Amino acid sequence: MNNEMKDIVSLAKRRGFIFPSSEIYGGVEALWDYGPLGAATKQNIKDAWISRFVREQDSMVLIDAAIIMHPAVWKASGHLENFTDPLIECKTCNARFRADHMMDGRFVGQGEAKEKNQCPNCGDRDFTQPKDFNLMFKTFLGPVEDSANTAYLRPETAQAMFTDFKLVQESMRLKLPFGIAQIGKSFRNEITTGNFTFRSREFEIAEAEFFVRPGEDEKWFEYWLDQWEKFFVDMGLNPKKLRRYEHPKNSLAHYSKRTVDIEYEFPFGWSELGGVANRTDFDLRQHEKASGKDLSYLDEESGKKIIPYVIEPTLGIERLLLALLLDSYRVVKGGRSTTTKSVKEEEVMLDLRPQIAPVKVAVFPLLRNKPELVSKAREIFEELRKHFACQYDETGAVGRRYRRQDEIGTPFAVTVDFETLEQGSVTLRDRNTMEQERVQITQLKDVISKRLKA
Ligand code: GAP
Repeated sequence: MNNEMKDIVSLAKRRGFIFPSSEIYGGVEALWDYGPLGAATKQNIKDAWISRFVREQDSMVLIDAAIIMHPAVWKASGHLENFTDPLIECKTCNARFRADHMMDGRFVGQGEAKEKNQCPNCGDRDFTQPKDFNLMFKTFLGPVEDSANTAYLRPETAQAMFTDFKLVQESMRLKLPFGIAQIGKSFRNEITTGNFTFRSREFEIAEAEFFVRPGEDEKWFEYWLDQWEKFFVDMGLNPKKLRRYEHPKNSLAHYSKRTVDIEYEFPFGWSELGGVANRTDFDLRQHEKASGKDLSYLDEESGKKIIPYVIEPTLGIERLLLALLLDSYRVVKGGRSTTTKSVKEEEVMLDLRPQIAPVKVAVFPLLRNKPELVSKAREIFEELRKHFACQYDETGAVGRRYRRQDEIGTPFAVTVDFETLEQGSVTLRDRNTMEQERVQITQLKDVISKRLKA
């Protein structure tokens, strides 16, 4: 792991963003717990996504479907047969890898192969033939563990949008084009994991299935690709670190006519953040065939029954969070605060957009041993926390408290000092400019609200 990644992994753990799952037992590979700040940041990303792609759209609705679906879903969707990666095993050390990663020399999290086709674990070159390994996690419904009761943890959220297509369309009286969106946990038993949270076995997908008239699919594909890319930029990612990757026809997923990934330049190379796929009418037709239920749509324009085409924009919440942490991480040598005297000292700041930052406002009394400052600061904190995610801190010098907040990306800090008691004003400090201005307590909530939206 390179230094850039190490810095983020360390900050994420130290400051309560991301921990290894079940760490007291040594952790579990590719499973992560999101601590208080990680959970809050993820929630902010999801809220921003829902606001942009559901609330602000004319024709998008949100669902929250069960993670375990009828097993027949995965047969019809093609996942039982096709949702596989080619698995190979090193005959010398028995380490297992994805054959396609072996071919191009990518061994995410498992050391670096010196050359292609070389085991990164022991260096040998003798492997078993690739065999298809299905990535879906199996479980059983009910108390009997047999094949008749086998069920799967969903590897994508999309299928519920197809199986519920008719129910949603009729109950909400939707007309084409319209979309069904969902954010939810998905599970993949990845062969090769690593690069921190990038390739996890449990993660959240935010995606939409946008149903359109056949023939209008290519136009809508371009529309969603632009919207998706814009979302990443608006979340704060550097546009120079984003690019599109058009999947060659021969490597498209079994359901796709066209897929374009949006990639981010991670420290370990350009890798997928999200993408847009043209799933055509594949899924609805498959489910119609397998369930025997009519999944057509009566098109009022033509008076004909049609099976809509589907454009699917998708993204991984944890991958976006990882990209945002990497992209916003700043180290300022020589210090930003007045208390940092040594030129060797480094201060870390997360330059997160206010909308995404887990804490919006920190509130401090200038001195903790002055009860009148502490009680005023607590009073202001109690009021502000009704409106914003706030943290109260009275420990250590004020400069150090500012730095602790900079490190987690808090955009604003309010300090209560002696002038507060006399004039009813506080200092409001801006994370990026470090400027402090005096604001009347009566104006504070409105001023912060306005700045958060700016
Ligand atoms: N319904 C389409 C679909 O699932 P995908 O590209 O396989 O498409 C969607 O997955 C998104 O989920 C990806 O763009 C990626 O951001 C994220 N993702 C996929 N596998 C992941 C993993 N193992 N860990 C974390 N995120 C993952």
